[in-house]
Amino acid sequence: MYLLEVAEGHSDQARVAARFLAERCNGHDFPFDMTSGTVPMTPSTCPARGREDSVVSALFSIRPLREDQDFALVKGLYLRADDYVMMESGLAISDVLVADFFSCCPPSRDLSRSVKLGLFRSQDLLAIADLVFSYPNEGDAYLGLMLVARESRGLGIGHRFVEHVIALSRAHGATRLLLAVLDCNVRARAFWEREGFHLLHTLPPACMGKKIHVRHQMAHLIASD
Ligand SMILES: CC(C)(COP(=O)(O)OP(=O)(O)OC[C@H]1O[C@@H](n2cnc3c(N)ncnc32)[C@H](O)[C@@H]1OP(=O)(O)O)[C@@H](O)C(=O)NCCC(=O)NCCS
Repeated sequence: MYLLEVAEGHSDQARVAARFLAERCNGHDFPFDMTSGTVPMTPSTCPARGREDSVVSALFSIRPLREDQDFALVKGLYLRADDYVMMESGLAISDVLVADFFSCCPPSRDLSRSVKLGLFRSQDLLAIADLVFSYPNEGDAYLGLMLVARESRGLGIGHRFVEHVIALSRAHGATRLLLAVLDCNVRARAFWEREGFHLLHTLPPACMGKKIHVRHQMAHLIASD
């Protein structure tokens, strides 16, 4: 229980403790040093993650975000993940960007068919996601964005969030979850492949803010229950 309390803090130690707990409850064991700020991770000590577990669930909660009550939290998250925004658009974090996150939905689609999700550790917003149902076609769901705060990456949060997004998509009748990853975002592409996404096709170069990107559309098939 004490380690769980440590993991809920904001220090380097908290990140180490959270990572330790997340991996331990997946059944993995590895050397652990609370003073170093890093946990040695090798393929033999940290095999692929896979199971839902109670400790991770106790650490993280996921809920829909609302513009009227969560605007400042989402802006804070964008500031803690501005490396990605810089890579994608070259634009600075602004209120307009945050308002776009809340209002964004595909052309001719109803905003009520989209959900903006936040993943929290206690009251701390660690990650956001933008999910649209029945887009681009009935039976599809589209993950427009997933963004984890810089200091919280590599803890299994992305994996946990994707599991939730897939379950939610399935509950809305989707048989496929789609997304697009920037060609230059090599680590994210590896992440999606590990999560079971495969390449559908490569999109022609498109302007995004101050940048021009080639993007790869990827899909994850969703089996019904
Ligand atoms: C991609 C992302 C959502 C994955 O979430 P996460 O919580 O870091 O993922 P997990 O801890 O479950 O898995 C870690 C893996 O994610 C991948 N990853 C991708 N970008 C990463 C980053 N900037 N930092 C750390 N890991 C990253 C790596 O493959 C990593 O595995 P590795 O340590 O063996 O290289 C997250 O890193 C992120 O928000 N990155 C910046 C924004 C982004 O690229 N979003 C996706 C747009 S398509």
